[in-house]
Amino acid sequence: MFFGGNWKLNGSRESIHQLTQELKVGITTTKARVVVFAPFVYLSELIESLKDSVIQVGAQNVSDQAEGAFTGEVSAAMLKDVGCDYVLIGHSERRSIYHEDDAMIARKMRLAIDAGLRPVLCVGETLDVREAGDAEAFVIQQLKVALTELNDQEIADIIVAYEPVWAIGTGQVATPEQAQTMHHAIRDYLSGEVESLAEGIDIIYGGSMKPDNASSLLSQDDINGGLIGGASLKASEFAAIIGACVV
Ligand code: PGA
Repeated sequence: MFFGGNWKLNGSRESIHQLTQELKVGITTTKARVVVFAPFVYLSELIESLKDSVIQVGAQNVSDQAEGAFTGEVSAAMLKDVGCDYVLIGHSERRSIYHEDDAMIARKMRLAIDAGLRPVLCVGETLDVREAGDAEAFVIQQLKVALTELNDQEIADIIVAYEPVWAIGTGQVATPEQAQTMHHAIRDYLSGEVESLAEGIDIIYGGSMKPDNASSLLSQDDINGGLIGGASLKASEFAAIIGACVV
């Protein structure tokens, strides 16, 4: 099981310090991997303050370039250098607002793995695509392109986050059946790529996951955790979601 807290563009040194103290007390399980994805500028301080806890730290984005004249970018090697363990790649907000395409996401995956980071690859369809009946083909295509440059063992080590765009930040959560159907299709595709290794890949759900809907989602066979936005900004809610599967 894997739980990510995606803090997005939220927080200050003070509020993050407060949240971190609460998370350290509220989350002590070793039965799930727990990672918080913070804005770049707070990563170093956060890594230092979480070093004696079970909670690991990730970045929300990474450059698709290794180094050089790319003003404003942060490389995978830099993230590793400051002690980051994980990175989100291809979040729908990056894809839609910042026009990241599948080829760029594939480059980011390669660079992240080369630097020793564990990528959490985000995929998910928009409402239009779902209503047209194309959700599964769309998500599998996103996955396929993102993984093109990776070998079997590298694929086996990633985390896939299925995040239907229409469920992110909207309060409109996918039903457990909708999510399970997509997670199963993702696992099926991965099995075609890496055979038995696909069983061990954490495929997590994201999109309005809250304490009151977490257990019905997490009890599905192919849902191995969550990527949580809004609810991860409150330590008690994030801990309650994790507690919904870790007893
Ligand atoms: P949400 O965000 O939990 O606020 O819907 C999830 C995400 O964007 O990762």
